[in-house]
Amino acid sequence: MTIDNDVIIVTGASSGIGLATARHLAGLGARLVLAARNADALRELAAELPGAIAIPTDVTDLDEATRLVEQTIARFGRVDVLVNNAGRAMAKPVEHIDLGEYTDLLELNVVAPLRLMQLVIPHLRAQGGGQIVNISSQASTAYIPYIAGYASTKFALNNLSLTAREELAKDDIVVSIVKPGIVDSDFGQNTPSPEPGHLRRAEDGSLLSHVIAPEAVAAAVAAIIDSGDAEINILGS
Ligand SMILES: NC(=O)c1ccc[n+]([C@@H]2O[C@H](COP(=O)([O-])OP(=O)(O)OC[C@H]3O[C@@H](n4cnc5c(N)ncnc54)[C@H](OP(=O)(O)O)[C@@H]3O)[C@@H](O)[C@H]2O)c1
Repeated sequence: MTIDNDVIIVTGASSGIGLATARHLAGLGARLVLAARNADALRELAAELPGAIAIPTDVTDLDEATRLVEQTIARFGRVDVLVNNAGRAMAKPVEHIDLGEYTDLLELNVVAPLRLMQLVIPHLRAQGGGQIVNISSQASTAYIPYIAGYASTKFALNNLSLTAREELAKDDIVVSIVKPGIVDSDFGQNTPSPEPGHLRRAEDGSLLSHVIAPEAVAAAVAAIIDSGDAEINILGS
């Protein structure tokens, strides 16, 4: 699939991987729809990227997610690619995972991307095809102490994504997952109430010990849109 002129929604575009991905895809000629809660950061980025628009959105809010897709269609008349990137971590031993916090994490990391997939699929089908790229994690298929709360949400996302890939192939809708290791972003900082040292210990001595630049993940997102592969693993060197 060519990216030039495509209309691409990127959630979590206000920082880290989402911001780098929006910049990279705009550099390849895509028209970006930037979504996240931080309206100022989105407006700043939209001003930088030709043809981009900012739609401040809390993806966990059904009305706001619906409005995101409706405004995309109203502005561009189509949507070609959805990049479900907004997400958050959790660092707690299983024994101490707060169930309320876990439910909120599931809302953000699983329910919200699922809802956005459901909102764009009818448009992609009507257009004759399109693509959905969901940002998962190397953690999703590993069993790393203190990371299970987070990893289990990405494990669920993997299954929803790759099952949807099978279901939607007949409509030329391609669903893919991108699985980075530890990326250099504000992710760790944005982890709610981390118990000191837990993330650090999880990184040490594990397959997540090499830090990856957000730009490398952005390039992988572009590569998987181009190839239509099911998944791509991004490991630090
Ligand atoms: N960093 C890593 O090591 C790593 C590794 C593997 C996978 N990932 C995945 O990569 C994705 C991006 O993470 P990152 O590293 O770029 O972290 P980040 O810098 O903390 O970015 C997270 C993004 O998600 C957005 N977001 C959070 N809650 C939201 C909500 N309710 N509605 C809309 N947007 C929301 C944030 O924007 P606002 O605060 O403005 O809403 C922000 O743009 C996540 O799905 C994460 O699980 C990260």
